[in-house]
Amino acid sequence: MSTASQTFTSAIENELARLETRLLEAVPASHSSVGDRIADLVKAGGKRLRPSLTLHIARMLQADTEKAISVAAGIELLHTATLVHDDLVDNAQERRGRPTLNSQFPMGLVILSGDLLFAEAAQLVAEADHVSVVRSFARALSEICHGELMQAQTKHTLATLEEYYERIYGKTASLFRTAAETGAMLGTDDDDQIEALAEYGRLLGMAFQIVDDALDFSSNEALLGK
Ligand code: IPE
Ligand code: IPE
Ligand code: MG
Repeated sequence: MSTASQTFTSAIENELARLETRLLEAVPASHSSVGDRIADLVKAGGKRLRPSLTLHIARMLQADTEKAISVAAGIELLHTATLVHDDLVDNAQERRGRPTLNSQFPMGLVILSGDLLFAEAAQLVAEADHVSVVRSFARALSEICHGELMQAQTKHTLATLEEYYERIYGKTASLFRTAAETGAMLGTDDDDQIEALAEYGRLLGMAFQIVDDALDFSSNEALLGK
């Protein structure tokens, strides 16, 4: 791990450890082999960028840590659910260095597994008992679906820059925005501060997706694990 990413995680080390526990508690320990693969996907980690954003902002604003961890876990599970469905749509074979669910199970089971993760995500976010937070989460979910639908329908056409920005906002930046916004909402009622942090999350998400798209051309599966 690089020094920059160590610094990024060390400030929220305790919260991240508790986040992992929450995530595993929320993942079904049943449904036989498909349940095991869902748990494997969650356990395989990934960078935990979106929940880290929520946790950093919540910490900075001295929000209730328990609520912040629930919301952060919900955001990470929403992200995981979108990966399950995205890999099915993209017919991807590997995710987080492991075989995707769609490479191992029939389509129906994969769709239901993604749905289950969406449902668990919503339950976790609802635990914060904060209407604006739930509204932000629901908005991101809707925007992700729009972004993915838009991408699936324009796959074989060259997007204009404007269309590309709209698509990456929907599929990626929207959730980064919500990750930051919900962390802020838990810590303050100041609308200007919440909006500024939401905008920070949106821009971070846009930059993240642009880099991810560039890596599709300059990197390979062995390095990316997907
Ligand atoms: C993958 O996101 C999907 C994109 C938005 C490009 P991440 O690269 O954050 O995935 P994980 O969570 O670390 O596996
Ligand atoms: C990731 O999109 C999925 C979502 C953001 C919902 P991509 O298809 O561009 O990214 P990878 O390459 O599968 O991670
Ligand atoms: Mg994909």
